[in-house]
Amino acid sequence: MAKKKIGLIGGGQIGGNLALLAVQKNLGDVVLYDIPVAEGLVKGKALDINQLSAVDGYDSRVLGTTDWKDVAGSDVIIITAGVPRKPGMTREQLLDVNLTIMKDVAANIKQHAPNAFVINVANPLDAMVFALHKIAGLKDNMVVGMAGVLDTSRFKCFVAEALNTSIRDVEALVLGGHGDDMVPLVRHSTVGGVPLTELLPKDKLDAIIDRTRKGGAELVGLYKTGSAYFAPAASSISMAESFLFDRKRVLPVAALLKGQYGINDFFFGVPAQIGAGGVEKIHTVELNESEKAEIAKSFASVKATVDAYDGTVTLYEWDDQD
Ligand code: NAI
Ligand code: 2OP
Repeated sequence: MAKKKIGLIGGGQIGGNLALLAVQKNLGDVVLYDIPVAEGLVKGKALDINQLSAVDGYDSRVLGTTDWKDVAGSDVIIITAGVPRKPGMTREQLLDVNLTIMKDVAANIKQHAPNAFVINVANPLDAMVFALHKIAGLKDNMVVGMAGVLDTSRFKCFVAEALNTSIRDVEALVLGGHGDDMVPLVRHSTVGGVPLTELLPKDKLDAIIDRTRKGGAELVGLYKTGSAYFAPAASSISMAESFLFDRKRVLPVAALLKGQYGINDFFFGVPAQIGAGGVEKIHTVELNESEKAEIAKSFASVKATVDAYDGTVTLYEWDDQD
């Protein structure tokens, strides 16, 4: 079987960790693309990782490049091109600068890798994946945003810590937009099959929900110069693996909704089956009235961010002079 090709757009903190994980998991050959000003960064990371693979005997190779032609033919593309938050900023404050970057990236994907399964990571997440889908003209099932896997992983981590129990037995789900009003579904969470609501009192659960919602900001406050990168990289790789190996995992991802959860033609965090066909199924979780209200609030935030720019993005028409 031919080796798979993984295109990583953005060679910064998350991009470098994605390249490392992809090689260590032998997912395929990696192309680490960044803009010319960062040529040394991506060439250096590629060389460094290739030297590590000699030590450990990995077969996958990394190419650091500033030429989109090298990205052509990628099976999976993960986009981390974009500016991260600084302390005190919301993800939405990244909209203007990251939309400019996304317009460039999406146009190049349309030109060089229109058939790839594309995972966006850049923030504000749900609005960026909406722009990507529209500008690049990608098929509805071949484009998703990464946030729910990370947010759910944070939630599980805090639950396991609070109970001093193995994280392996924590089952949980965080739905909605990747913002401060994301929706951790406590009522649907269990530890070894036991409902979480029977294991922790309400005040502890509320504190965990709050910390999950502010999980990204907590790390921005600690790092000071940027945002989280290890867990975001691992979360994105789990989505890429499910596509590349047709694992058919059901993961919380920002997928294009067509009426599910009462939402039409927006990307929003929901449980979706990811396999060789991209987004193969979207699952609808049974929600009570208060959970529905939380979903509506989270969606209102996503919609407001998209509405702020929607008129400015259209399908990109390639011109030979580009
Ligand atoms: P970073 O600043 O370390 O790396 C970003 C890279 O993008 C830089 O190397 C930059 O040169 C590159 N870049 C800029 N314009 C580009 C273009 N037109 N084409 C290709 N590359 C370009 O940032 P980091 O920490 O890797 O974060 C990347 C993005 O991911 C940010 O927007 C951040 O907010 C977001 N993020 C999203 C998460 C999520 O859960 N969805 C979690 C953590 C971060
Ligand atoms: C995070 O949640 C900042 O979106 C980024 O870590």
